[in-house]
Amino acid sequence: LKYTMVDRETCIACGACFAAAPEVFDYDDDGISFVFLDKNQGNGEIPEGLQDDVLDAYDGCPSGSIKIANEPFNGDPSKFE
Ligand code: F3S
Repeated sequence: LKYTMVDRETCIACGACFAAAPEVFDYDDDGISFVFLDKNQGNGEIPEGLQDDVLDAYDGCPSGSIKIANEPFNGDPSKFE
């Protein structure tokens, strides 16, 4: 995987992703997560050393809101579904 973004429509602010990958995910005032590396556009390549953390976040999100792909999302979290 090279790219990630959060579907902010389905995120339930559980917090698991920023616990798993604090260098990739952050959250807004409502607790809704976003990827701060690229302002949640899904266009910034995840540094290799952080990819395992992102996978943990992907596996741990209870609402399936963490999206991962080998191609950029261009801001659309459902692009590959
Ligand atoms: Fe939201 Fe899932 Fe993270 S519910 S806070 S994207 S673990």
